[in-house]
Amino acid sequence: MLSTVTLSELSQHYLHLEEEHGAHNYHPLPVVLNKGEGVYVWDVDGKKYFDFLSGYSAVNQGHCHPRILRALVSQAHKLTLTSRAFHNNLLGEYAQFITEHFGYDKVLPMNTGVEAVETALKLARRWAYEVKGVPSGAAKIIVCENNFHGRTLNVISFSNDPSAQVNFGPFMTGYETVEYNNITALKNALKDSNVAGFLIEPIQGEAGVIVPDEGYLSKAAALCKEANVLFIADEIQTGLGRSGALLACDHESVRPDIVILGKALSGGTLPISAVLADNEIMLLIQPGQHGSTYGGNPLACAVAIESLKVLKEENMCENSLLQGEYFRTQLAALNSPYIQEIRGKGLFTGVVIEHTSSNTDLAMDLCMRMMENGLLAKPTHGNKIRFAPPLTINRTQIDECIAIIKQSLQEL
Ligand SMILES: Cc1ncc(COP(=O)(O)O)c(C=O)c1O
Repeated sequence: MLSTVTLSELSQHYLHLEEEHGAHNYHPLPVVLNKGEGVYVWDVDGKKYFDFLSGYSAVNQGHCHPRILRALVSQAHKLTLTSRAFHNNLLGEYAQFITEHFGYDKVLPMNTGVEAVETALKLARRWAYEVKGVPSGAAKIIVCENNFHGRTLNVISFSNDPSAQVNFGPFMTGYETVEYNNITALKNALKDSNVAGFLIEPIQGEAGVIVPDEGYLSKAAALCKEANVLFIADEIQTGLGRSGALLACDHESVRPDIVILGKALSGGTLPISAVLADNEIMLLIQPGQHGSTYGGNPLACAVAIESLKVLKEENMCENSLLQGEYFRTQLAALNSPYIQEIRGKGLFTGVVIEHTSSNTDLAMDLCMRMMENGLLAKPTHGNKIRFAPPLTINRTQIDECIAIIKQSLQEL
């Protein structure tokens, strides 16, 4: 049975407005937030919570990071959008900064994560026809089972989640799905000479923080190289410190042919995404062949530079690695009969909750209990809970959070 919460009249007012006038495409926890600072958020009644979702890892740098806000506000007073019909003084600076930061020749700036995924897929197809020599219209992209790369019609075409697909067809063709973390399956799929790219989340986020076996990413990248296939890493959720490294691929010293970034590129202030690749791939797209009105706008450029600087200068990757390990050790030490499995890397943790025959909604129940006790997290795919706080969290705060989780488990 789902726990019930008593909502204030003010919260009910906001919930009602959304319910009446907004599309019902999400199922949020019944909490209405109006303030954030660092690892904390506050609801409209002034109650304080630890944020263990971080805007699906867009707020890695912590809510309302003062340096990112300063960059945002200061640039907003000068120039926000020119479109790409004209140059602006920040795009070149940003392009130089981000390409040097990640070690690629070029960047293609977009806005939302899924747009950057679409960009990477278009690049891979272009490369297949114009460099690899795949016959026109025959290019194939290999994807993984239980992937999540966004919500456009093309991207849901290669999802195997029924809620993403049902009654949205017809779908785009040109994709082949292999089991995640299965090298043999990938090896077999790579036998087809029409394969252009292999698109992968280095850790599957929405699927419940699935960490592949050590060595899988490096073997997969080596196989792709051997087969002359592009290794395309979707680091939208795993990148920018979430896994305890700048990119999750860094843990295995893998350098993807194409890197896709989003979310924390703006520290949670506005939609900024980016695709990184070398000239051989990126220069296959010529003027007029791809773009976006807002992509590369000066406001986004200023914010992205500062968001990356903050991550680095405040050692957030290192803190993520350290506190993530500590968090999982402390969680395991709770020895809760409700916890079936704990997995993760850095401050990216997935916990599988043991469902009982009398209650198949325990993960949601636990999230509701945690919410009442001052910690916000959300189940992903049934019985899995993702714990992903801002990367600024310290050990004392983690201890407080463990106490909240412990108490909430005891109340189940
Ligand atoms: C791995 C991954 N790719 C792509 C996306 C889509 O990003 P957006 O919602 O900004 O379009 C997400 C969003 O959660 C994601 O986690």
